[in-house]
Amino acid sequence: MGSILFSPLKLRGLELPNRIMVSPMGQYSANEGSAGTWHMVHLGTMSVSGAGLLVIEATAVNPEGRLSPRDLGLWSDANEAALAPILDFCRKEGGARLGLQLWHSGRKGSVAVAWERQLAIPKERGGWTPLGASAIPYPNRTTPRALDADGMRRVTQDYVAATRRADRLGIELLELHSAHGYLLHNFLSPLTNQRDDRYGGSRENRMRFPLEVFKAIRDAWPEHKPLGVRISAVDWVEGGWEIDDSIAYASALKALGCDYVTASSGGAVPEQNIKPVPGYQVPFAESIRRATGICTVAVGLITEARQAEEILAGGKADLVALGRRMLYNPRWPWHAAVELGEEFYYPKQYERSHPSMQGGDFLRPARNM
Ligand SMILES: Cc1cc2nc3c(=O)[nH]c(=O)nc-3n(C[C@H](O)[C@H](O)[C@H](O)COP(=O)(O)O)c2cc1C
Repeated sequence: MGSILFSPLKLRGLELPNRIMVSPMGQYSANEGSAGTWHMVHLGTMSVSGAGLLVIEATAVNPEGRLSPRDLGLWSDANEAALAPILDFCRKEGGARLGLQLWHSGRKGSVAVAWERQLAIPKERGGWTPLGASAIPYPNRTTPRALDADGMRRVTQDYVAATRRADRLGIELLELHSAHGYLLHNFLSPLTNQRDDRYGGSRENRMRFPLEVFKAIRDAWPEHKPLGVRISAVDWVEGGWEIDDSIAYASALKALGCDYVTASSGGAVPEQNIKPVPGYQVPFAESIRRATGICTVAVGLITEARQAEEILAGGKADLVALGRRMLYNPRWPWHAAVELGEEFYYPKQYERSHPSMQGGDFLRPARNM
């Protein structure tokens, strides 16, 4: 019998050829939000990696929704035009279906890029006043402005405009980022939401804005295309967002037409107490899947083919997302296929690298996806 890892998965009208997702990973390599040659190489490489789904990094819906001035965005015609040839390459040469993560950085915004320690940057160096659910700063960062009703309307419109751009670009799946201490998580978590209007207080109120944004995107996104959500399943802090909250949120999302939830965690506050061990977030994906019946994506220190297979076979998740392991070894799916005895897609230029071909046998080793 074949593996589950290399079996297809259908989400609405999109059939993924296997259950391996390249987790969205910010590259801090855009100019004014526009992708460039780094993205061509990076996304091009990931698209021929053998993964069934490539989710493009957190992509800001407006300039102040970036974390650093070098983040990718999709708010302008220039941003859209810059991504087009890269996606053309991925479609023509790659086997991965193409997704993109929509994002607003919220209160964490206006910092230097990751490798410059993400310190707050002043306006003279391209910084801005970030937005949050409440005017509570992330330690050592600029104090955010609490979004008012008008601001919420504008941000929602920006999500919708970016959704339309993604559709025009031929993106096949969207993921709404509501994790890691960014804008929508600012609303969800009681640690960062101290509002006294209908967007703060009870869990239902704190979920209201993220759900409104989700609904606006779902309404603008073609019916046949899947829309998922990344969540921080827990804050890892006492008094923060807990797994029961995530189950309630996933149920509400499912009722609005959400196709999957990726169970990540943390990011709201630096005091979080996380002990990352292999597969440390898998139990969150499993709890959410069992409680709500929604498809889940497991992510976080999934590095081995058999580990991934066991997660899927155990009914803990429907997909596995790999981040750092794909950067370390962008041919991970090829190696996993060999380990699990699967036939597999290789780009034709590289097919003679398959272990079965090293004795001079020029037969094709793999079916094309
Ligand atoms: C360089 C880098 C950039 C990342 N950028 C994003 C991002 O844009 N959006 C997101 O949701 N997670 C982001 N993450 C988190 C990963 O998607 C993933 O959840 C995390 O690294 C844990 O999975 P792993 O152990 O397989 O790396 C990033 C991680 C890394 C290492």
